[in-house]
Amino acid sequence: MSDPVHLRDWRPDSWQTRPAAQQPVYLDSAALARVLEQLRQLPPLVSSYEIECLKAQLAEAALGQRFLLQGGDCSETFADCQSSIIAAKLKILLQMSLVLAYETRRRIIRVGRFAGQYAKPRSTEVETRNGLTLPAYRGDLVNRPEFSPEQRQPDPELLLRGYERAALTLNFIRALIDGGFADLHHPENWTLSFACARSVAEAYQQRVTAVQEAVSFLETLTGGTIPQLQRVDFFTSHEALHLLYEQALTRQVPRRTGWYNLGTHFPWIGNRTRQIEGAHVEYCRGIRNPVAVKIGPPISPEELLALCERLDPEREPGRLTLITRFGADAVTRYLPSLVEALQRQPRRVLWVCDPMHGNTETTPAGFKTRRFDRILLELERTCEILHEAGLPLAGVHFELSGEDVTECVGGACGLTEDDLARAYRSPVDPRLNYEQSLEMALHLARLLRARSVTRVSLAGSTAPERSPTVASAPSPTP
Ligand code: PEP
Ligand code: CO
Repeated sequence: MSDPVHLRDWRPDSWQTRPAAQQPVYLDSAALARVLEQLRQLPPLVSSYEIECLKAQLAEAALGQRFLLQGGDCSETFADCQSSIIAAKLKILLQMSLVLAYETRRRIIRVGRFAGQYAKPRSTEVETRNGLTLPAYRGDLVNRPEFSPEQRQPDPELLLRGYERAALTLNFIRALIDGGFADLHHPENWTLSFACARSVAEAYQQRVTAVQEAVSFLETLTGGTIPQLQRVDFFTSHEALHLLYEQALTRQVPRRTGWYNLGTHFPWIGNRTRQIEGAHVEYCRGIRNPVAVKIGPPISPEELLALCERLDPEREPGRLTLITRFGADAVTRYLPSLVEALQRQPRRVLWVCDPMHGNTETTPAGFKTRRFDRILLELERTCEILHEAGLPLAGVHFELSGEDVTECVGGACGLTEDDLARAYRSPVDPRLNYEQSLEMALHLARLLRARSVTRVSLAGSTAPERSPTVASAPSPTP
């Protein structure tokens, strides 16, 4: 099979003919070329088989049959490439997925915002302190956060360090999962990592117990362990921002047509780089991976339709995810007309809510934070708008940590602005901490359960059905 007609003019480097926002400027172009050549020779981090498998699962999520849980740091740091921090991130995502699967009876697609989330878009190119102006910190893939001319200079060697850390992270996650970290038969992996408010701890524990009893009951009936309950699929994602890096990991694969980004399963285009004629859209339109695009204000229905057409002209199931991030107030102004415009097309995208990025504020003491209630409110409103249109919320996208950080305020733990200084560790955006993440999953599960799951058909006719939670037997796989 040859490439489709619309990709005849695409190459992994065709983005270089377009305006590319948010790219670092390297002073030593020979060093950059050497590094990129090395990256091109290094083995891929993921396989095309895994990518196609994720795409097939996403296609089911678009129809309301699965649910996407995507989460991790705003910006991964090289310093955090440590076993305890990686295991904590995996653990919170698994625990959230158990709660969501139990309540919704939908299989959960787990996607980490990690193993490559090292490059950040910034609102200004430079930063000035005490009269000194230096390049802005753009994530560990590009430069270092310390405010000195040496540390802020984009350094091509960091591209190799980023690739290596992504590989180390992924290797450890694969080993944990293969070694039984997600095995429902091991109660010790499902305990709470930190003391939580009683309401959260009890609600969580009740669900774990129910799942484990269901497993034990089923295994009594079948007379053996159910192998599907011993391991789970886990996928990675990051913002496809640094296009020279992404290009170096874009490969052809024997016996498959087209090009794959083999540096991650599921790249996304950020809200700042989604210009229809821009380099990021040009790069992403040509790769075979499922791709997501962040959608925030301002955006018109025409702009969104053009973006969908450019990124997914073949209307391939599972190919395109729209991650909305409007903020709790703006979502009611923007989302209904966007949903309506898309519904007039025979196109099935995944509507996923990122309730974090539209709800960021700065406290009088200068901390960037987000309020638990505002995050939840955006989730509720998004769910409601989609439900009114007969569509399922296909997933969520959170910035979260598996640790006891103090970056977002609110939740049952009652974190206030005064607590933020205690354990604020994110170099960029504030994350939900372990307990806030678990509590958010419990609220989200309630929201999803309260609305009947909507099954959609491609012809545009949508028929809300009763939630399968009422009828089906427990499906405890998290
Ligand atoms: C992010 O995901 O960290 C981010 C910068 O988001 P957005 O592109 O939606 O602003
Ligand atoms: Co962020």
